Amino acid sequence: MKKFFLLFCTFIPLVASHEMGALLFHGNCVTCHYELESKSAPAIIEVRQRYKDAFPIKKDFVKYLSEWVHSPSAEKSIMQDAIAKYELMPQLAYEKDVLEEIAAYIYDTDFTQTHSYHKTK
Ligand code: HEC
Repeated sequence: MKKFFLLFCTFIPLVASHEMGALLFHGNCVTCHYELESKSAPAIIEVRQRYKDAFPIKKDFVKYLSEWVHSPSAEKSIMQDAIAKYELMPQLAYEKDVLEEIAAYIYDTDFTQTHSYHKTK
């Protein structure tokens, strides 16, 4: 019973955190970044691929991406071609920890597959 309780306690926050990242991403980023299609901004699969190539380790990926989104800068961009094409992304004024949740969600999600986010409405 104790074992079960411990398992329960460690499992639930993991799920909740992932769901939170999904909600935050879909609520705040998808207006510009579609999952698979580049329209007014590069598709998130494109951003994800570039960042994964540059930062294969999750910790580095999350750190760089969340810091960049916190204060977008042409100097620190790893997608110069995207800036030339779409102009620099505007600053969005989100908290760092919110952006870290979103970055972790992007790292973990294969957007070409059906994933855990489902529109409720
Ligand atoms: C108002 C539109 C808009 C919104 C909202 C937006 N982005 Fe962007 N984003 C862009 C555009 C345009 C670019 C391409 C130009 C650039 O790289 O600055 C971009 C580029 C990026 C990049 C590539 C950075 C680089 O190295 O150049 C990342 C990472 C990113 N966005 C993450 C996010 C995340 C995460 C969110 C949600 C919190 C978000 N964006 C919301 C427009 C947007």
